[in-house]
Formats: sequence, C-alpha cells, structure tokens
Amino acid sequence: MPPLHRALPALRRLRLANNTFQQQSSRLGLQQTSRQAVAYPLAHQIRWQQNASRSEGEGQPTPSEPAPPARSGSKNIKYTSESYPQMQRDSRFKELDKSDVEHFRSILGSSASAIIDGVTQEASNEDLEGYNADWMRKYRGHARLVLKPESTEQVSKILKYCNDNMIAVNPQGGNTGLVGGSVPVFDEVVINLARMSKIRSFDDVSGIFVADAGVILESADSYLAERGYIFPLDLGAKGSCQLGGNVATNAGGLRLLRYGSLHGNILGLEAVLPDGTVVDDLSKLRKNNTGYDLKQLFIGGEGTIGIVTALSIICPQRSPAVNVAYFGLQSYEKAQEAFREAKKQLSEILSAFEMMDGQSQNLYARASGAKLPLEEEYPFYCLIETSGSNTDHDSEKLNTFLEHVMGEEIVSDGVVAQDETQVQSLWACREGVSEASQHWGGVYKYDLSIPLPQLYDLVAEARTRFEESGLMSKEDEGKAVLDVVGYGHMGDSNLHLNVACRRYDKEVEKVLEPWVYEWVAERHGSISAEHGLGLAKKEFIGYSRSETMVKLMKQIKDFYDPKGIMNPYKYI
Ligand code: FAD
Ligand code: MLT
Ligand code: ZN
Repeated sequence: MPPLHRALPALRRLRLANNTFQQQSSRLGLQQTSRQAVAYPLAHQIRWQQNASRSEGEGQPTPSEPAPPARSGSKNIKYTSESYPQMQRDSRFKELDKSDVEHFRSILGSSASAIIDGVTQEASNEDLEGYNADWMRKYRGHARLVLKPESTEQVSKILKYCNDNMIAVNPQGGNTGLVGGSVPVFDEVVINLARMSKIRSFDDVSGIFVADAGVILESADSYLAERGYIFPLDLGAKGSCQLGGNVATNAGGLRLLRYGSLHGNILGLEAVLPDGTVVDDLSKLRKNNTGYDLKQLFIGGEGTIGIVTALSIICPQRSPAVNVAYFGLQSYEKAQEAFREAKKQLSEILSAFEMMDGQSQNLYARASGAKLPLEEEYPFYCLIETSGSNTDHDSEKLNTFLEHVMGEEIVSDGVVAQDETQVQSLWACREGVSEASQHWGGVYKYDLSIPLPQLYDLVAEARTRFEESGLMSKEDEGKAVLDVVGYGHMGDSNLHLNVACRRYDKEVEKVLEPWVYEWVAERHGSISAEHGLGLAKKEFIGYSRSETMVKLMKQIKDFYDPKGIMNPYKYI
C-alpha cells in the first residue's frame, strides 16, 4: 500500500503528465455556478435544438426551435410497423382527411409553424421525418400531421376534437425518449409542445419555478442559474428534451442521488385530459394532503392519460463550489467500496456517483476521437461530483476522501477537474456514452434497477452470451454487434446495459430478450429504472409488476382515456 502522502500527489503527477488538462491550479475546490450541457464532439446529433442556453424573463418564450429537425439518414430507419409486423393499426381510429386538417387550422390559426400537414400534401416526408423517427434510429412512424399548439386552450380544443372523432394522438416533447414512446407507430397525430415555451413565474425566496411544458430543460436551468438556483434534474439530452417530456417520463438523470425524483420535487401540474378537460393542479404548495395526489399519475404517465401543459417545481439553491473527479478502478468490487466511502466521507456534498466500464470508455473515445483522462486503461471508472456551499470545506473533505481511497488502493488512479473546461471534459466521458453506443448504427438499450452487489454481473453475462453467439466483433463489419457496455447511475443502483450494434437484427434481440428481463426479475429489480415503458418495454411490464398492479394500471388508463386515443400501442 503506498503511503498516504504519496497517494494524492499521484493524482497531480498523472494530471501533469497527461497533458489533457491545464496545470495552473492545484486547488481541488472550484468556484463554479453552472455546468452547461457538455460540448460533445458529436453534439449536433444530440442537441437537435440549438441556442437553448439563453434565458429570458418571465412570461417570455424561452428559446427553442419549433421542433426536432430530421436527423440525417432517418429515411434509412425501418418503419416500426415493418420491424414489428405483428402490430396492427387499430381500425377504430379515424384516418385523417381534409376536413380534420381544416378544423385543426381553425384552432391553431394561420402561423406556418403551428402545423405540418402531410395529409393535404403541403408538407413533404422530410418535413415530417424529425417527428416520426426516434433518437435511437430504431422506431419510425407514419404520421402525416404534426400540430404545435401554443396554449393550454389550444391543446384542450385539439384533444376534444380528437376524442370526439376517434383520432389517435402521440404527445411529443423533444423526442429524446429512449423507449419508442415519443414517435407514432402508425398515423397518430403528433402533438408537439415546442411552442409552449414560456416561463410563467419564479419566486426567489421559495425557489418555486412555474413553466410551460415545452420549455427546454437547459433553458430552464440557465434561467435558474442566473438567479442562483438549479433545476433539480440534469441529463445528457438537456439541450433538446422538454420539461413536459421530463415529467411524462419521470426522468431520473445524473443528480437524482442528491435532489431526488420528480415525484417529490414537482408541486403542481396543469394537464389536459383526452376529452379536453383542463386539470388545473398547478399548486405551489410544498404540503398539500387534501385528498389523492392525482398529479403523480401524470409523472411517468408517458402521455397515455393526458398532455402535461405546465408544471410547478421546487428548485434548490445552486451550489457555488462544485468538484468533479474521475477514477480508474481494478474491479467492480472496488467501485462499490469507493461508493461506500464517498457516501461516508463526502455525505451531504456528494451530488453524483456514476460508473462506467472500460468498454464504455473505449467506445466513447473511439466514437468521439477524445482522449480519455487517465494514461492507463482500467476495467472500471467512476465519476464523482460534489456540490457544496464552501470551497475550503468541500476541498478538505474531498482531499481526505481521495487520500483514503488512493491510500487503501480502492482507486488506482484519478484526476480532479481544475476548471470548468475540465469539468465538462470529465462529464463528457460519462454523458457521451449514449451517443457513442449508437454511433455505428444502432443500440439495444436496457435501463435497469438491480441490487448494487449484482449490478455488473448482468453486463459480464451478456458479454459472454454475445461472445458465444458469434454475432459480435469490434472489427468485422459483417457482425451485427460491436460491443457490450455497462455504465449508469451507480448511486441509484441504475445500470444501463447497452449493446452497440451496426444494425438492428432480430438475432441480436433473441440473445437479449427475454433473457435480460428474466435475469432482472429473478433479482427483484426493475426492467425500467428511468426511461419508461414506451413501445420497447410494454410487453415486458409483467417482469416488474404483479398482475394486480397491471390490472390497476389498466383501470386507470381506461378511466382517463376510455376511447384509448392517447399514445396507443404503448405503455400498458
Ligand atoms: P419525448 O422523448 O418527446 O417523449 C417521451 C415520452 O413522454 C413520450 O411517451 C411522449 O408521448 C411523452 N410526452 C412528451 N411530452 C409530453 C407532454 N407534454 N405531456 C404528456 N406526455 C408527453 N432519461 C433519463 O431518465 N435519465 C437520463 O440520464 C437520460 N439521459 C439521456 C441522454 C441522452 C443523450 C438521450 C438522448 C436521452 C436521455 N434520456 C434520459 C431519455 C430522455 O431524454 C428523457 O426521457 C426525457 O425526459 C424525454 O424528454 P422529451 O421532451 O424528449 O420527451
Ligand atoms: C444516461 O444515463 O446516459 C441515459 O439514461 C441515457 C442512456 O442510457 O443512453
Ligand atoms: Zn441514465
């Protein structure tokens, strides 16, 4: 075991030798008020909506482009109806005609950005692609009409008309969802909330923020940053995803460990039911035990019982002192030890604890061309973030922690960011794995809650299955699978198992499904930790929920959406 006084300087020596980072400061503490979305080398593929980081005053629309433009090559994405031929269009749903489009025009007015009309042939397929194809290039619908309301009243009128006329709809935010819920399967009308992008109010004493559902997450966070606050959710898609989409998916993200779930932070919601009823529960109360807490049904409801049009959320103070460290470790057991020590020693200032395996980091480096922060390669890496109010206090705690984990040989090597650029570089190693995983054509994604001691076993076993299947090779372009990687929110026992592939292939799917779900169910985990059910997980819900629970969910769906027009073919 190296003596303690040598352990911490080893971090610095490596950093100096590495050349990746600047060398001006040796202080661990870093005065920093915000971390903007990571500037990915592949950013254009993630951040569909540009200019999202400016902030505006209350009542003003926050900057957003009207909609996700088609990603290049989306025409090559197979239609969902072809990939899953067993799925049939529900013949009860009306096929749109000119009179429907005229009616929607009468609701939305004459603005050219309010409606994309492929029914009367005004819009081309290309105009519609960005709303039909999903981020993973796995799902693609046949929608011919996209509606973009700018008020709750317009949403209400649209839904009422659809409900009265049996027209199926697909609510859509930033279209960054990872389970196929955000795009239609057949010809459902897309109702995209991008034009509802006003911040309604902010109280800088209570931290309560009220905004339209179409506000982009990064815009909300930038607005709050200027006022000393932080949005209590952060994720790699923050430059494109919308608050309404975040609510509808109950997104978890990178700091759930610190700020908790949206189920706890959201104080009120405004939503529209399929029959047009506006549910005005935009409460700003922290405590409100007057009856059932119905808003919780919309949080994680994935657009199946109504459209969220606004939310009120309690936001914490932004921490002035933020530190980010990136470690290499020899085993998953060491990663668990590091997590235990981080909780013990960093306690209240720990704001993120993320794990990435060596394969995920190599894939990220290969796809992005970025150099990894550490000289040597390790089987596992962890990223730790601390957020506190006192730089000296936090630095002292972090130093003690680093000395301990290095001295005890829990951590083999590591670096600590010295400035904002380095903070971003380190976070990019973690956040960039999503993009890297699908860089070669596609990705099979499994987002799982698994008891911590067994969490990584699944990745190792999945890798063995692919090695034995003959379907995997890093070099051979003929093989469908490139690599199997594991990473995720270790602090929340949430693993992301990604199988990076060159093309979607039923043979690959057969290796993974239902095996992954059985594996998780045997360990009493969850088959969807934070991404939701959408289309991808719909048929597997029984692996995580009992028959009774599924029956109750179906009753709720039928009660709120008796005609079944909301996001059909998905969820339940
Ligand atoms: P969409 O993708 O448009 O829609 C998602 C679902 O919500 C659909 O079912 C849709 O019908 C419904 N919906 C959208 N808006 C509304 C509304 N206003 N009312 C009712 N229903 C609505 N997720 C995480 O949980 N944690 C992560 O760390 C994370 N990281 C990501 C990183 C990347 C690079 C990417 C591409 C995705 C990531 N995601 C993550 C997944 C995704 O970003 C989140 O699920 C996000 O909350 C979706 O928001 P969106 O606005 O894009 O919604
Ligand atoms: C993440 O944690 O990076 C996200 O949930 C997205 C993903 O897994 O691709
Ligand atoms: Zn995640």
